Amino acid sequence: MSEISRSQAHVHRDAGTAPRGPGGPHGAAPRGAGAYAPGTYGSRPRSSSSLAVGELVQAALPLIAAWLPGQRWYAGKGQAITALHPLSATPLLTGDPAMVHLLLRVEHGSNADIYQLLLGLRAEAPAGIGPDALLGGLTHGPYDGAALYDAVHDPELTGRLLGHLATADRFGPLAFRRTPGPGLPSDLPGRAGTAEQSNTSVIFGSSFILKLFRRISPGTNPDLELSLALSRAGSTRIPRVAAWFESRMEATEPATLGLLQRFLPDAEDGWELALDQVARLKGDPSPGNFAVEAHRLGRATAEVHRVLARALPVARLDREQTGRLATAMAERLDVAAAAVPALRRYRPALHTAFRQLTADHLTGLTVQRIHGDLHLGQAMRTPHGWVLLDFEGEPAKSVAERRLPQPALRDVAAMLRSFDYAAAHLLAGAEPDPELAHLAAGWAARNRTAYCAGYTAAGGSDPASSPELLRALEIDKAVYEVVYEARHRPGWLPIPLTAIHRLATAP
Ligand SMILES: Nc1ncnc2c1ncn2[C@@H]1O[C@H](COP(=O)(O)OP(=O)(O)O)[C@@H](O)[C@H]1O
Ligand SMILES: [Mg+2]
Repeated sequence: MSEISRSQAHVHRDAGTAPRGPGGPHGAAPRGAGAYAPGTYGSRPRSSSSLAVGELVQAALPLIAAWLPGQRWYAGKGQAITALHPLSATPLLTGDPAMVHLLLRVEHGSNADIYQLLLGLRAEAPAGIGPDALLGGLTHGPYDGAALYDAVHDPELTGRLLGHLATADRFGPLAFRRTPGPGLPSDLPGRAGTAEQSNTSVIFGSSFILKLFRRISPGTNPDLELSLALSRAGSTRIPRVAAWFESRMEATEPATLGLLQRFLPDAEDGWELALDQVARLKGDPSPGNFAVEAHRLGRATAEVHRVLARALPVARLDREQTGRLATAMAERLDVAAAAVPALRRYRPALHTAFRQLTADHLTGLTVQRIHGDLHLGQAMRTPHGWVLLDFEGEPAKSVAERRLPQPALRDVAAMLRSFDYAAAHLLAGAEPDPELAHLAAGWAARNRTAYCAGYTAAGGSDPASSPELLRALEIDKAVYEVVYEARHRPGWLPIPLTAIHRLATAP
């Protein structure tokens, strides 16, 4: 690391307004002081009347710099960190334990990202903090000797966070916000989930799940924006939004930091369910009928689209704008073909499919806000039907791009690709087996048809009546998958390439 900036640290030495909730023995950081108990960590804090959070952060930065690149959600892998600039440091709890919320600008080469960290401090690291969650022992500064760790793995500290959400507190630049409705518990410990890649989820009992965004973009996260719109409209197709929290950074719109939703304890993951059904094609006398579920999932998708179209802007693209949509797809194809040679022979046919979009949509296309990254793994089956999750959109796109209205069929096309992927699992890693390939193709086709039928039955525009659009959107998605697989899982490349072949040679 060539530089750890001290000059840009904009720290919040006081905790803003007093918390509205009751304070416990280790209450939330009090207004104006946030006094660290002298001697908490073996050495006296330099100032017994302030939390000295700025000094704490400076002492913590080298530990953070060493720990950050190893985190699953850290995006700058492979590039050395060249600078760390704390943007805000907000004490949420003082004493032992203590908790500090940190927004950190991380520079690596010519790129920079903002990350959200929740730092826990205790005289001794709690038993449940594994080596991955431990940043290390502070060796100087006001908390010399304290153990510094990722507070999302400390149920007591995440419980505090829930308390702040429950009482809609404000601390410095942080605002905790609640939706109207039943009160939130403030005394449930939270346990960190293990599955996520890009965010960290914390589950409270069997009631709530808090998604903590790790890489922070300025402005409202589409996951909050769309989930809130659906929740406010009373949709039962998503887990109800109970609360969120955000930070006033420089942008006019606060940046979303976390989203609290109802936890669905009885929900089953759509991808796992589909894989289970696909596996039964191998000789199970009762292979099940996933098409019934696919139909219901199509209905759920149409219902979500209908609510989003009512709650958020809808537009009609003119021919020129539709042309730009097609051009953007064509450009993505060219970039992909430059990177993945196997795509090249399909380029002319795929370009023709994109051009068709403007030829066949002379009066333009209707666009609206959509899910943006729909697949079977973003859907859960509950005893009350299918629920959609994770409205963040495609992670590779900028937030501005993800918030643009799109043809609703983009989500449909994405889910159709997901049925293909589930079916292809049956064949992955095995010797070629034409009979099994036939069964898998049949499974995908049946479920694709059922999904579209469900979508249409619930009032969505019939995908079959816009074949050119659906085809272009499926190609666009498959091109994205080709690049992804070539880069990350070359063994899976045949899955999207088979789809590209089908889409390029379709009559
Ligand atoms: N409300 C919920 N109830 C139950 N499980 C959930 C809920 N929300 C998320 N999950 C689980 O957490 C996983 C990741 O959630 P998701 O919002 O998709 O985050 P990510 O952005 O990390 O993909 C989901 O696939 C699901 O298994
Ligand atoms: Mg997800």
